[in-house]
Amino acid sequence: MVAARITVNGEETPISPAAPHTTALDFLRERGLTGTKEGCAEGECGACSVLVARPGVNKPTDWVAVNACLVPVAALDGQEIITSEGLATAGEPGTPPTLHPVQEEMAVRGGSQCGYCTPGFVCSMAAEYYRPNRCAHADPADGTDAEHGPNGFDLHALSGNLCRCTGYRPIRDAAFAVGVPTDEDPLAQRREQSPPAPVATEYTRDDRAFLRKGTLAETLRLLRERPDAVVVAGSTDWGVEVNIRSRRADCVVAIDRLPELRELRVESDHIEIGAALTLTEIERRLDGDVPLLAELFPQFASRLIRNSATLGGNLGTGSPIGDSPPVLLALEASVVLADADGEREVPLADYFTGYRQSVRRPGELIRALRIPRPLSPVVAFHKIAKRRFDDISSVAVAFALDIENGIVRTARIGLGGVAATPIRALTTEAALEGRPWAAQTVEAAARVLQAEGTPMNDHRASAGYRSAMLGQSLLKLYAQTTEAVSA
Ligand SMILES: Cc1cc2nc3c(=O)[nH]c(=O)nc-3n(C[C@H](O)[C@H](O)[C@H](O)COP(=O)(O)OP(=O)(O)OC[C@H]3O[C@@H](n4cnc5c(N)ncnc54)[C@H](O)[C@@H]3O)c2cc1C
Ligand code: FES
Ligand code: FES
Repeated sequence: MVAARITVNGEETPISPAAPHTTALDFLRERGLTGTKEGCAEGECGACSVLVARPGVNKPTDWVAVNACLVPVAALDGQEIITSEGLATAGEPGTPPTLHPVQEEMAVRGGSQCGYCTPGFVCSMAAEYYRPNRCAHADPADGTDAEHGPNGFDLHALSGNLCRCTGYRPIRDAAFAVGVPTDEDPLAQRREQSPPAPVATEYTRDDRAFLRKGTLAETLRLLRERPDAVVVAGSTDWGVEVNIRSRRADCVVAIDRLPELRELRVESDHIEIGAALTLTEIERRLDGDVPLLAELFPQFASRLIRNSATLGGNLGTGSPIGDSPPVLLALEASVVLADADGEREVPLADYFTGYRQSVRRPGELIRALRIPRPLSPVVAFHKIAKRRFDDISSVAVAFALDIENGIVRTARIGLGGVAATPIRALTTEAALEGRPWAAQTVEAAARVLQAEGTPMNDHRASAGYRSAMLGQSLLKLYAQTTEAVSA
C-alpha cells in the first residue's frame, strides 16, 4: 500500500507523522499553511475552511468547501485540497502574488479588518465562485434578492463563516461582485477532469489506526473483525467529539467514499438515497424532487457542514434532535442496514429504540434510506431554533399530508426534540385523517399535537415552550396552505 499522502495547493505531501486523529487544520498549520485558522474547532465559525476536489454534480469535479477542523487529515489520503494560500497566483521572484478574484473583491470592498476570518471566507466564497451553473441563478431583471446576488452568488455559501469585526455588508458586497472564472483559470479548468479516486488507506501510528477499504463487502468484513471500530462518514459529529471531548478511537473506519453508499436512485415506487452522500450532493442532485427534503436542507447547519454531513451520520448518532429524522419519518422512509451477512430494511419508525439507541447491530452500517413514492403533496418542515440558520433545533416538526377535496386522506407527522427519540405524532395523525382540512379540525388537532411526546426542560427551551411550538406549528401549516389556496 502506498504511503498516505495529500496534495495541498498542487504539492504532494506525506501525511506522516500526523496521528490518525490529527485534523486537516492542525496538519496544514504544522506545515506552515497558517492561513487556515482555528476559531472554534467545532464547525461553527468557518475560519478553517479549505477547498476539496470532490465528484461534481454538473461537472466531473466540484471545488467543495469543508471545515478542516472536523475532518481527520487521514480521511483526505490521496485527495487534493486548496487552502487560502493556494488561491493567489505566484508572481515573478520579488513581486507579490496576483490575488484570486474573490480575494481581490474582499480587499477592495473592505471585507476584512483584523483578517482572522478572511481566509475561511475566501475559501467558502471561492467554492461558490466555481459552482457550475451559479450564473444560471442570476436574475437579470433586478439583480439581487436577500440571499442571491446579481451574479447568482448564493449567500448560504457563507452561512458557516463568522466574522467578529468587519460586519457582513462589505463581505456580501464582495460576494455579489465576483465575476465568472476565465477559461485560463486553473481551478476552473480542474473541474473538467475527474477528482482523485478514493484510495484504500491503512494509516497507523502508536497502535491507533485510520482505515479505509475500497468496497462495502471489505468494510463489513473489517467491522466484523473490529467491533470496537468507530465508523466515520463526514466527521461533522465525530470531529467535534475528537476536538471538544478529546475522544480517541483505536480504530476509525472511513465509509464516506464507498460507492455502494453513494448511489441515488429514483425508481417508480421509491427513491433510494445512499447513506454517505453529503446533504449538499443530495440537495443538488434531487433539485427539489422531494419537496420536504428541499425544505430541510437550508435549515440544516450551514453549507460548510452540509458539504460533509450525511444522512447516515445524522441517523448514526441517534440524536433526538437531529433534523433529518422528523422529515424522514413524515416521508415514511425506511433504513437499509447492511452487515457481512446481508441486508435488511427497517421502517425508520421502528429504528430508534431509546435515547441514542437503535436496532442497528454492532458491525452493521446504514447503507441507504428508502423513501416510498408517490410523495404527499402538502409538506412543511418547521425548525424552531434560536437562530434562523446554523443552529440546533429546540423542536422540529415535519408534515406530509394528502388532502383531497378538502378532506385529509393521510397525515404523517415527524417530531424531533420532544422525546428521547424522534417520534411520529400518531394521535395527531389520527385526529386529522378523514376530517375536513378546516380551522375547527386543525385547532382541535393542534391541541392534540401539543400533548404528543414527553418534552423536557433544558438550556435550549422549556418543556412548556416545546409543547406550545408543536401546536403552533400545525396552525402555521394551516395558515400557509389556506394562504396558498386563496392566493
Ligand atoms: C456546526 C455544526 C452544526 C450542526 N447543525 C446540525 C443541524 O442543524 N441539524 C442536525 O441534525 N445536525 C447538525 N449537526 C450535526 C451533524 O452535522 C449531523 O448529525 C450530520 O448529519 C452527521 O453526519 P456525518 O456524516 O458528518 O457523521 P459522522 O460524524 O461521520 O458520524 C456520526 C455518527 O454516525 C455514525 N455513522 C456515520 N455514518 C454511518 C452509517 N452509514 N451507518 C452507521 N453509522 C454511521 C458514526 O459512527 C458516528 O457515530 C451539526 C454539527 C455541527 C458541527
Ligand atoms: S475552527 Fe471554527 S469551524 Fe473550524
Ligand atoms: S475581519 Fe476580523 S473577524 Fe472577520
